[in-house]
Amino acid sequence: MTGGSATRRSNQVTCQGDKKMISKIMEKALNEQINKEMYSAYLYLSMSAHTTHIGLDGFANWFMVQYKEEMEHAMRIYNYLNDQGSKVHLKKIDEPPTTFKDPMDMFKKTLEHEQFITKSINDLMDLAVKEKDHATQIFLQWFVTEQIEEEANDNEIIGKLELIGGKGDGMFMIDKELGQRTFVSEIPTE
Ligand code: FEO
Repeated sequence: MTGGSATRRSNQVTCQGDKKMISKIMEKALNEQINKEMYSAYLYLSMSAHTTHIGLDGFANWFMVQYKEEMEHAMRIYNYLNDQGSKVHLKKIDEPPTTFKDPMDMFKKTLEHEQFITKSINDLMDLAVKEKDHATQIFLQWFVTEQIEEEANDNEIIGKLELIGGKGDGMFMIDKELGQRTFVSEIPTE
């Protein structure tokens, strides 16, 4: 909350002249992004469950960390909307796939999904520019940078899986490496 013209009452913010800090169209688009981030979390949780089921515990750990990161992405937007006096509107989360051919299939699907999320973030940024919404542009910059890292991580793992052909000792080594990933929370939990 910035400036002296806005006051918070019962989770509602009223601003001078009843002006919203972000537009209705921006609010709707950010709510849709919460749903996409939650679906991402659901997708990776499903992948974690599958890899646990087939005994690839390192892969399962990697996807579990990814699930937790996606939940934080959703919560960043949730907190932002609340801070801006906008309404959070949670929608139904689609059912993710539950079976996968092999780890390569999972990482190709992960990369494809992240490319979809990158486009969605870029569309949000375009909208924020169009709306002359400077605060949301700054807020979205974190996501733009994050998507570069997400796609790079997926491409790196796909490259390693290609190298070993998805078999033998190489798979054991990758499973061990992915088992080292840890989750570090970047947002305060209240
Ligand atoms: Fe939240 Fe993986 O994008």
